[in-house]
Formats: sequence, C-alpha cells, structure tokens
Amino acid sequence: MGPSGSGKSTILRVLNRLIELYPEARVSGEVYLDGQNIFDMNLMELRRKVQMIFQIPNPIPNLSIFENVALGLKLNRLVRGRRELFERVKSALEKAQLWDEVKEQTRHACRQAVRRPATEALRREGPRLRA
Ligand SMILES: Nc1ncnc2c1ncn2[C@@H]1O[C@H](COP(=O)(O)OP(=O)(O)O)[C@@H](O)[C@H]1O
Ligand SMILES: [Mg+2]
Repeated sequence: MGPSGSGKSTILRVLNRLIELYPEARVSGEVYLDGQNIFDMNLMELRRKVQMIFQIPNPIPNLSIFENVALGLKLNRLVRGRRELFERVKSALEKAQLWDEVKEQTRHACRQAVRRPATEALRREGPRLRA
C-alpha cells in the first residue's frame, strides 16, 4: 500500500523477478521471501506466490477473451474436462461482471488488440461441451 509512485510495483517486480526482464535493470544482492532466497526458488512457484495485477490489462492478443481467462486454468491443470473449464471461465467472467457483455457480444471487453470476438470462441466451445 502507498501513494502512486511510491515504489509498490517496483518492489513486486523485484520479489517475483520480473525486474530481470527489463534490459536497463541491474540485479545484485540477495532477496529473501519468507526466509527463502528467491534466487533458489523455482521461478514458477515464486511467481505463483508473488503475483501482480497490472494497471492496464494484458490479454494475449491472438486469443479470445474466453481463451485468455482459460489459459491459467489449463496451464496449471486446474480443471478436468471442457465442461468444468467452461463453468470456471463463465464464473470468473460473471464475478468480474463481464459475462453478459462477452456472451452477448454487445462490445469488446478486452483491448482492441483482441480481434477475435469472444462469442465466436464460445460458439466453438459450445458443441464440444454438450457432446
Ligand atoms: N527504492 C527505489 N528507489 C528509487 N527509485 C525507485 C524505488 N522504487 C521505485 N522507484 C522508482 O519510482 C518510480 C515509481 O515506482 P513504481 O514502482 O511504479 O510505484 P507505484 O507502483 O507505487 O506507483 C519508478 O520510476 C521507479 O523506478
Ligand atoms: Mg504501480
């Protein structure tokens, strides 16, 4: 917590090692999180523990809204089967009050970069879910 510009994002980038992706950044010294040296930790574990919510959404541009939401669940194998995936994505979008917009395609819920309409993806998902 703290006012804008006080260094919140920077400290998070240090803790989850995203700082290393900045070409201008130099990294030295040691950082401990809960007593553990972050450079000894598995990077994925570390980033699961130290997550960032970015001010500007960063959807993967060539994926639909549905697929963007589904990605984390798929990669982490958190769902069994398409029906559960669909339900979890739907529930997440409902909690964010985006489901109706995405479902009815009244307007794009992601940045303009997301070209493929989400409803198209949902239509494609549909028959397989009912199968
Ligand atoms: N410990 C620090 N010492 C010097 N500059 C810092 C430090 N932490 C952050 N900054 C710089 O301050 C600016 C704002 O930091 P940022 O992390 O974006 O703040 P916040 O997320 O709280 O708005 C950035 O330019 C950043 O490089
Ligand atoms: Mg910030």
